Amino acid sequence: MADATARNVGPIILIGPPGAGKGTQAKRIAERYGIPQISTGDILRENVERGTPLGVLARDIMARGELVPNESIFDMVAQRLRQVDCEHGFILDGFPRTPAQAGWLDAFLEHEFFENLHRGVCLPIVIRLKVDYNQLVKRLTGRRTCLAGGHIYNIYSQPPRVDEICDVDGSKLVIRDDDREEVIRERLTAYELQTRPVIDYYERKGRLVCVDGDAPVDEVSNQIWQVLERPAVSN
Ligand code: AP5
Repeated sequence: MADATARNVGPIILIGPPGAGKGTQAKRIAERYGIPQISTGDILRENVERGTPLGVLARDIMARGELVPNESIFDMVAQRLRQVDCEHGFILDGFPRTPAQAGWLDAFLEHEFFENLHRGVCLPIVIRLKVDYNQLVKRLTGRRTCLAGGHIYNIYSQPPRVDEICDVDGSKLVIRDDDREEVIRERLTAYELQTRPVIDYYERKGRLVCVDGDAPVDEVSNQIWQVLERPAVSN
């Protein structure tokens, strides 16, 4: 494992509909490679929790299952990517979510981030988690998340050892506000209309790799290791 993981993995983007397993896999990638998970949803929820101006703006939008306006998201992501722990790579979970966000990220990585920090351009690997639509609602209605560390469970597929208690830190498990069925439908619609074109964007650029997200969690992770650890092809 040490050999496999001792590498500069660079930027990784996880893309897929709500419930595809982005957060679950992002945490595993972060642990394996020692790089941060940057979840725009988590950062927004923290802001809502703290009642910041961004949180106040985002609260109702998120409760409706719609997307938060780009200008707020761009500031938030730029601030996070400029932190020193992103220097050797990071995993974006929930961003980019529209073609405009994807274009912004490309420009940011090219003109600011890698020019300043790395003296070179490093393109992201984009991993698409493909999951059958009917599975998604079941996954989201069964999801439980811990308040302290954001650890993710599922009452059907990944239950905690003790009901409603996090295995890792013993904190209480909660149901996310937007995991109500009517909001889930809205989020899935937003994904189809606004995020699916991002898949085409990266496909056209030859940066997209598909993974079978319907498989059990460990199998999905193994597919991801294969993608990230395959030898680079030299020209
Ligand atoms: P966000 O928090 O990003 O939510 P999302 O994209 O809807 O994705 P989820 O977190 O619901 O699902 P996931 O793919 O991470 O699945 P998970 O691993 O938890 O965004 C929330 C809101 O914030 C948005 O609606 C929007 O308002 C706003 N927002 C965020 N980013 C934004 C942006 N860039 N621009 C504008 N607005 C933005 O897994 C789900 C469940 O399935 C869990 O219970 C898990 O245990 C289970 N599971 C996972 N993998 C498997 C498997 N292989 N087999 C069986 N069960 C599994």
